[in-house]
Amino acid sequence: MSKALSTQEIRDQFTKFFVEREHRRVSSSPLVPADDPTLLFTSAGMVQFKAMYAAKGDLEYRRATTVQKCFRATDLEQVGQTPRHLTFFEMLGNFSFGDYFKREAIHWAWEFITEVLEMDTEGLWVTVYLEDDEAYDIWHKEIGVPTNRLVRLGDEDNFWGPAGASGACGPSSEIYMDLGEAKGCGGKECKPGCDCDRFQEFWNLVFPQYDQAPDGSRAPLANRGIDTGMGLERLAQLLQNVDSVFETDGFRPIRDVAMDLIEFDLDQEKHRTTLNILTEHARSVTMLFHEGVYPSNEGRGYVARRILRRAVRRGKMMGLNEPFLYKLTSAAIDSLIEAYPELAESRDRIAKMCKAEESRFFETLETGLRRFEELVQKTKAEGSTELNGRDVFTLYDTFGFPVDMTEEMAAEQGFTLDTPGFEKAMEEQVERSRANAPFNNDDQEAEPWTWLRDESAKHSQFTGYDTLSLDVTVVAKRKVGDVWEFLLESTPFYAEGGGQVADRGWLRSGENELEIIGVQKRGGLHLHRAKVSRGQFEGDQWTASVDESARRSTERNHTATHLLHAALKRVVGDHVTQAGSLVSPDRLRFDFNHFSALTEAQIQDIENDVNRAVLSDFVVERAITSMDEARASGAVAMFGEKYGDEVRQVFVAGSGAKEVSRELCGGCHVRRTGEIGLFRIVSEESVAAGIRRVEATTGWNAVAFDRSSTETLSRVGSLLK
Ligand code: SER
Repeated sequence: MSKALSTQEIRDQFTKFFVEREHRRVSSSPLVPADDPTLLFTSAGMVQFKAMYAAKGDLEYRRATTVQKCFRATDLEQVGQTPRHLTFFEMLGNFSFGDYFKREAIHWAWEFITEVLEMDTEGLWVTVYLEDDEAYDIWHKEIGVPTNRLVRLGDEDNFWGPAGASGACGPSSEIYMDLGEAKGCGGKECKPGCDCDRFQEFWNLVFPQYDQAPDGSRAPLANRGIDTGMGLERLAQLLQNVDSVFETDGFRPIRDVAMDLIEFDLDQEKHRTTLNILTEHARSVTMLFHEGVYPSNEGRGYVARRILRRAVRRGKMMGLNEPFLYKLTSAAIDSLIEAYPELAESRDRIAKMCKAEESRFFETLETGLRRFEELVQKTKAEGSTELNGRDVFTLYDTFGFPVDMTEEMAAEQGFTLDTPGFEKAMEEQVERSRANAPFNNDDQEAEPWTWLRDESAKHSQFTGYDTLSLDVTVVAKRKVGDVWEFLLESTPFYAEGGGQVADRGWLRSGENELEIIGVQKRGGLHLHRAKVSRGQFEGDQWTASVDESARRSTERNHTATHLLHAALKRVVGDHVTQAGSLVSPDRLRFDFNHFSALTEAQIQDIENDVNRAVLSDFVVERAITSMDEARASGAVAMFGEKYGDEVRQVFVAGSGAKEVSRELCGGCHVRRTGEIGLFRIVSEESVAAGIRRVEATTGWNAVAFDRSSTETLSRVGSLLK
């Protein structure tokens, strides 16, 4: 019989064991990976070490052990249905970067589970990669695992990685516990790797030895090594001898609160599944919100929304008619707080945010469910089992039903979805909203682009990165009130986009002059708006000039925004991600996810960090690359933002080992950081739950800001004598 350890005891015993074997105890990295735009979430313990496997030269340490917060939404429909699937989970890991390899990893793993945890060796099974004789022999000859409990499996089961689009990967070896025939499928071939619940995999020992490129090709890894991952919750289940992860000490308190909400009949599978889903999703939503991932319609935020709505729908099925999940979040925090004391700060915020999102969904849920039922009936009457994509889209668009939730609901009744139809409806909607997007917020006309459809053969080229003055040809124009709208064959005017405002400037021809008041871009077209300031708008040959002083100020603010973003990550933490930005000639505004106000000291650190880069006068470089190359070089991309195949990177390499900044960006920037002159933070405030806003200024504006602060001070000084 193994030791009945609590979840916290397991965390402690595991890291202690490896620290005693000279591993550096490294803390968990955030759920949102810092430098890996190819990964939505941290999905394994090795993610924070990806660069160490690939690094050439000296490393600060070559052995590490962690308890890593992980998140996977890949098996979402399984979560709650099986005893072991989770979205948020913790992974215990020991790692070697060019240090020890298979022999030590296997021996230590065995020593830990049999001597520290005192697990019964009879129930343990091991798998190795098909052709990995080395691992097979270590397990069999050195450890003594009998061949009838040693199984060779292929790529699908025993080759791991890379995490994201590229990086370390290699063959693996997994350790399983046989939970007994009664839990199994009874199949003749049932053994580790079978989908049923009999053999529980709980520890994966990966032997990373390849470095996979984004195109799938593999080269030898600079630091081949070890990456192990043991599922903390699964191990707790085994040690605590309970039937599912949901009955371990880490989940029971949350489950108890759920059981107080409503009566569950645990003999019914549907009830059991719902209870698991509420318990699990309350816990994972708590962690996501804590880490700054908030419900939205894109990227990570959409994952948070999906999970929360999945739980709400299940609760509703059990007769819960108003927000309830938020009542479980406090228990979720309690169950994790020993390992993550920082959760305490987020308690109120998480509950409020959860309740708000639940309320939002409850507003449309009832009607949406009715619509869904009608759709099922209609489909049945038509003798089909596939729900129409357009109707599924309406459920998504009007009633907020995440499509995989609809898919799960459909599957419960034996229906499938017409996915291509759904996608088509989705695309059409995106197109529609593009066509309908108003030109400016204050624009009275809903469709400023429609008149240009006939002109669509023409394409305007933007020359304004380098050329601020240009002889241009007007290719189409019309007048709305006293405002002219027109297209140019080539234009030096930057259209608003990526947070940067449009250029101001003039079109001149002889005595005639137009002043540009707005520029917008759709597809390849720049639509300019201007008012006649002298003479008239006749003829098609003009000289276009960008207001250079305004443009240079904008450039300063834009590059400073990138430096600020990088400084925030360094000073405040890797969880900082951009939530919005505005770059104009006067100032820059940057919104980001963070839980509390910045301290005076942090503000100063950030300001210093940016000014250090300014005074170092680093070169600001631009490169056009494929998206894959950009990812591989670690450029910061905005999730949920769409990029083409070719992307523009703006980066400041700096002079240190680590780059100062690298982002995907189509905006205008200074050539050297020294041009920024001076960077001053003007304000820091909260704009929404969990979102902070920094406003800052650069160049002459920063000088003016300093001057007015000094004047105010001296006035106050003389008033007070
Ligand atoms: N990276 C492997 C996994 O996630 C082992 O840590 O399973």
